[in-house]
Amino acid sequence: MKTSKFNIYHFEKIESTNLHALQNIKTYSDKDIILADIQTAGRGRLERKWISTSSENLYFSIILKPEFEKISEIPLVNITQLMAVCTAQALSEYKISPHIKWPNDILISGAKICGILSEISFTGNNFDGFVIGTGINLNMSPSQDELVDKAATSLYNELGYKVDRNIFLNRILHIFFSVYSDFKRKGFHSIKDRYLAYFPYLGKPVRVINGIEDMEGIVKDIADDGSLIIEKSDGSEKNIILGDMTCSIQV
Ligand code: BTN
Repeated sequence: MKTSKFNIYHFEKIESTNLHALQNIKTYSDKDIILADIQTAGRGRLERKWISTSSENLYFSIILKPEFEKISEIPLVNITQLMAVCTAQALSEYKISPHIKWPNDILISGAKICGILSEISFTGNNFDGFVIGTGINLNMSPSQDELVDKAATSLYNELGYKVDRNIFLNRILHIFFSVYSDFKRKGFHSIKDRYLAYFPYLGKPVRVINGIEDMEGIVKDIADDGSLIIEKSDGSEKNIILGDMTCSIQV
C-alpha cells in the first residue's frame, strides 16, 4: 500500500543516502526520495561524518533534476537554505523555536537538531541533478552519546514524546514541494523573509571560517542571494557566500 504521495525508496541500511543517490542518479527521477533507517558512512558538511546509527532519526535525500539554461540559475547553496526553511517550519509546528544558523544548520537553544548536505552530479559537462541530504535528530533518546554533550538535541529531547517518522518526513516534503516551483523561478529572494524569521543573528557578533579566510564581524543582513553580510571592526562590509558561522552569544 502506498502511504505517501512521494516516491520514497526506503533502505534499512545503506552507506549514505547522498552517496547512493549520486551513484545511481540516472536510475532515479526528479523528486525521488532516498530514505535510510541507518547509514554506515553518513556524510556531513566540510568532510565531517554524520553519525547515523539511530533508526529512530531521519536520514533522507531528495533528488532534483530541474531544467534550466545555466547551472548558476539555481545555486545549490540556496536550495539548501530552502530545505532549512522548510525543515524549520515543520519543526516549529511542534511549538518549539528552531533557529537557522547560516547557511543551513538548524539549532534549538544552541544545540543542533538538523544538518543538510547538498551535492551536485555531473557527467562530463552535463548536469545530472542535485541531491539534497537532510539528517534530523527526531526520536533519539536524550541519553544517546550525541546528545549527552549538549552540542546536539533531538525533537524527542525537546518535546518529551516521540513523533512518527513517516508523518514528519511527509510533512517536510509537502512543505518543500509546495514552494519549490516558485523558488525555482524566483530564487532565494522569494524565501528571504521566511529565512530571516528563523535567523536570530542580526546585530550579533559572529566568526566565519571557509577554509581560506577567518572572518569576524557583526551580522548586518542576509543578502538577496542568501549570502551573509557582516560588518568588520574597521567598518567595512563583507559579503560571504560560503562558510561555517559560529556565534559566541546564545541566541
Ligand atoms: C552537516 O554536516 O550538518 C550535514 C549533515 C547531513 C546529513 C545527511 S543524513 C542524509 C544525507 N546522507 C548523508 O550521507 N548525509 C546527509
